[in-house]
Amino acid sequence: MTVREAIKARHSVRQFKDMAIREEDREELNDLIEVCNRESGLNIQLICDDPECFNTLAAKYGKFKNANHYIALVGPKDMENLAEKCGYYGQRLVLAAQMLGMNTCWVAGSYSKGKCKADSEKGEKIVCVIALGYGEVQGNPHRSKPMSKLCDVAEEDMPVWFKNGLIGAMMAPTALNQQKFHVTLEGDTAKITTKMGPMTKIDLGIVKYNFEAASGHKV
Ligand SMILES: Cc1cc2nc3c(=O)[nH]c(=O)nc-3n(C[C@H](O)[C@H](O)[C@H](O)COP(=O)(O)O)c2cc1C
Repeated sequence: MTVREAIKARHSVRQFKDMAIREEDREELNDLIEVCNRESGLNIQLICDDPECFNTLAAKYGKFKNANHYIALVGPKDMENLAEKCGYYGQRLVLAAQMLGMNTCWVAGSYSKGKCKADSEKGEKIVCVIALGYGEVQGNPHRSKPMSKLCDVAEEDMPVWFKNGLIGAMMAPTALNQQKFHVTLEGDTAKITTKMGPMTKIDLGIVKYNFEAASGHKV
């Protein structure tokens, strides 16, 4: 599966099989987490076999099932663009998990920060988590705002790479499916910005990663 295929195939999955993460998948993810942490300065961690973090009313209400494994996005509180970086590197991991045959759901609200088993040193913050495992289902595509609401470049004026990136961005998960981002073209560089709102900075990082992966161009 290519990364573009992974972007297309990935939808939020909240019901997982009651299964441990396969040793080889765990190793692949941990290796990539190490790369992401080295590159970003974050302290991302994979936590397996912990049923407590999602043992919350919000998770039950959200119909989470067997959400026993998760990636915790942790980093220094005073890091510049902490939330955006968590979004960017978290989405890199989400797509890698999809390519390994796993499913994921970004979670900022339906888990217990207090019960989360991630180590966070003094001065660090748990920004959010990503539930992951082998899905009972593959999920469904989300409704997207039309291209014209998310981008001010006319479709006929878009370079092919830019259109590919925009389609990838439209498929990106955003909190509450709010899609508050805006994509534009300045010279031959894409620029992505976001309006204010809950978790929009995390969303921005996710959307940027999807755009870059789908277009092959840096944002
Ligand atoms: C930053 C962020 C936080 C999220 N928090 C939650 C959450 O607390 N509970 C939940 O059930 N879904 C949560 N989601 C999942 C979104 O509802 C979902 O990604 C969105 O509806 C788009 O659907 P898709 O992921 O299938 O494309 C979150 C998504 C993001 C990006």
